[in-house]
Amino acid sequence: MSRLFIFLNIIFVLIANTTSLTEHNLKPKPKPNTFVIPVFKDTRSGLYYTNVTVGKPPVVANLVVDVRGSALWFECDTVGYNSTTSTPVPCGSPGCEQTKDKCTTCQAYLKSELTFNTQIATLINDDVMLRYMSPSSAYVAPKLPVRARIACRGYFEGMMNMLPAGTLGILGLGNSSTSFVSSLLSSYKIPFKVSLCLPSKPGNNPGSVYIGGSLKRKDLTGLLVSTPLISNRETKEHGEDYNYFIDVKSIEVNGKRLSFDHDLLKNKRGHWGRTKIYTLLEAYIYKALVRAFSEKTKKRKAVYPFTDCFSYKSFGEKSLLGKETPVISLVLGEGAKWDIYGPNSLVKVNKNVVCLAFQEADEFESLFPIEIGGYQMEDNLVEFDLEASKFSFTSSLLRHNTSCSPQ
Ligand SMILES: *[C@@H]1O[C@H](CO)[C@@H](O)[C@H](O)[C@H]1NC(C)=O
Ligand SMILES: *[C@@H]1O[C@H](CO)[C@@H](O)[C@H](O)[C@H]1NC(C)=O
Ligand SMILES: *[C@@H]1O[C@H](CO)[C@@H](O)[C@H](O)[C@H]1NC(C)=O
Ligand SMILES: *[C@@H]1O[C@H](CO)[C@@H](O)[C@H](O)[C@H]1NC(C)=O
Repeated sequence: MSRLFIFLNIIFVLIANTTSLTEHNLKPKPKPNTFVIPVFKDTRSGLYYTNVTVGKPPVVANLVVDVRGSALWFECDTVGYNSTTSTPVPCGSPGCEQTKDKCTTCQAYLKSELTFNTQIATLINDDVMLRYMSPSSAYVAPKLPVRARIACRGYFEGMMNMLPAGTLGILGLGNSSTSFVSSLLSSYKIPFKVSLCLPSKPGNNPGSVYIGGSLKRKDLTGLLVSTPLISNRETKEHGEDYNYFIDVKSIEVNGKRLSFDHDLLKNKRGHWGRTKIYTLLEAYIYKALVRAFSEKTKKRKAVYPFTDCFSYKSFGEKSLLGKETPVISLVLGEGAKWDIYGPNSLVKVNKNVVCLAFQEADEFESLFPIEIGGYQMEDNLVEFDLEASKFSFTSSLLRHNTSCSPQ
């Protein structure tokens, strides 16, 4: 089944980049301030994945992008990783968790929805080839070997069928001081900022993850709206320590507030959830959303895995961006509104039927009333800026005749 995730990390000081190149410099030393990692959509699972080249001799690791995980980890043995450039992370370093026995290698526990249980991994440092942007230009330069922390895990049978074919690990983008993201930021003195622009179409036209900065396009910066990121302190006890949280005050459909008991949202947060593709809503909220859509349209028989489907005709049949498609707004802290248009709220399952791209949480899942899924972020630029403690987003780029994977 399809799931999605998101994760992030710590706060670093932005140090002014002084690129004083003289004419005599033969080859300017690269000054990356943003790393750019391509993200593809997997057709079968609906997950988003990337591939990175690690070590020498190089191996390519296909990784699921998880906003909520902390590490870059993969099954090193399975891809024949035996790198001469890798160095062990010394025992006793931050992030090493070992027993009282004498330590030979630094090990860490990996927590992920996809592994079902906690896994032990060995931490190493090695070169990862990454594309990058410099402070002065939006040009994405060719790959640079970047020293970063990686977690090597042994083969684990239970996990593989959850991942898209060929992926052997996870790229975690969560809030952790000992993660892959943090190791890049501390080596290059760049701020803790992770941005995503997820593609809506499978194939070779990727979207991107940006580490340290964001997509540099003047036409898009004007579209960004912000809300505070909430500290994860109070959620740590639930084992949610790498996740990002925002306040969702209410939900509107075409500007009209959904009717459900808004105490459900009190003291609880919207967050990036458990590797969900479709946003998971607490049952009362989900039902209120279905009611609001049903008022405007004809219901149709549900098509698996969705539970509420409608006649495409009632949405104008031209494009899900059309004005007949209701706009869902998440009303967030400090009044920002995240408008969700048809391409992010409905899935066209056949010529005549579209289905609501949200899921109703069962009673075991509703620890949090809203878990934001990947589908709702496709073709939206979103930024987690830990230095400024804010979350920024553009809403659908399709409305501005662009996307996360233009061309
Ligand atoms: C990464 O995956 C994409 C899409 O599947 C593919 O086009 C590309 O060649 C892959 N890159 C490497 C280095 O394997
Ligand atoms: C790893 O590489 C070294 C040489 O760098 C070689 O001696 C060793 O046999 C290799 N190990 C495996 C498991 O391939
Ligand atoms: C990130 O993690 C640090 C350390 O656990 C925590 O103090 C901070 O509040 C977190 N930030 C966010 C936005 O979650
Ligand atoms: C997008 O393109 C359409 C048709 O080409 C045009 O009518 C519309 O004004 C454009 N919108 C923006 C925001 O550029």
